[in-house]
Amino acid sequence: MDLEKAELHAIIQLAIALKNSPDLREDTLQHKTLAMIFEKASTRTRVAFEVAMTQLGGSSLFLANSDTQLGRGEPLEDTAKVLSRMVDFITIRTFDHRKLEVFAQHSRVPVINALSDDFHPCQLLADMQTFFEHRGDIQGKTVAWVGDGHNMCQSYINAAEQFDFELRIACPQGFEPDAWLLERSRSRVQIVRNPVEAVRGAHLVATDVWTSMGHEDEREKRLQQFAGFQINDELLSHAASDVLFMHCLPAHRGEEVSAEVMDAPDSVIWDEAENRLHTKKALLEFLSKH
Ligand code: CP
Ligand code: NVA
Repeated sequence: MDLEKAELHAIIQLAIALKNSPDLREDTLQHKTLAMIFEKASTRTRVAFEVAMTQLGGSSLFLANSDTQLGRGEPLEDTAKVLSRMVDFITIRTFDHRKLEVFAQHSRVPVINALSDDFHPCQLLADMQTFFEHRGDIQGKTVAWVGDGHNMCQSYINAAEQFDFELRIACPQGFEPDAWLLERSRSRVQIVRNPVEAVRGAHLVATDVWTSMGHEDEREKRLQQFAGFQINDELLSHAASDVLFMHCLPAHRGEEVSAEVMDAPDSVIWDEAENRLHTKKALLEFLSKH
């Protein structure tokens, strides 16, 4: 939400161009460095950032919490001041979103959200690229979110604002996104409890795990509470005939999504995962110029 709509659209178009012409501007981040602070596990986000920096001629530093003074209690503010005098970009994956905001306030260089408990914006860049590639502009289309109203869902709400689509959310009672987000976006976003109603005629159906990082203690309870919210062929039969299914991954086959949907030969989820790389390159290149 810190970027303008036009800037986000330009990043998506740049990501598509970089994907189609891998040699394009390959040294735009020569001698630049990205510091990566990760307090949660990651495969896609970490690899995409590291490969993006390498492919654009720069380098990255992976900073696991266990290895840094930040992990031993050095204040965030001090870490932000020190790191941002040495590197060109910082990305953080953490629990409390407020930490990202405090860090950014004390940083001289751009701070990128690599996932917090509230939002996962980089994933949405990849999801939007994937939709644009397969179906064209998402403006005016209908998107259904079926599942937990957590970080991914909340980033879909922000994307509905930035990319002008209608978003219907089907989530169990007690798993709604934050009320202030729903209120802010009430012209575009609505809670539709019933998954069938949410996906009816939808052009894109998206979900995420039922037990996110940090919620592991609730796993058994959540399995029961989310029963009936699985994305499967029956549910998707109510969507538009050319519906796309997306999942940020990692996925749990047989829980939030059936194995048939995950492994469908025409699934775009692997393009979606690959696009994490191309959108990272586009985002980093954009940030290096702004
Ligand atoms: N989708 C996503 O962010 O995956 P990772 O947790 O593997 O980075
Ligand atoms: N909602 C998930 C996304 C993982 C990429 C989590 O926070 O664990």
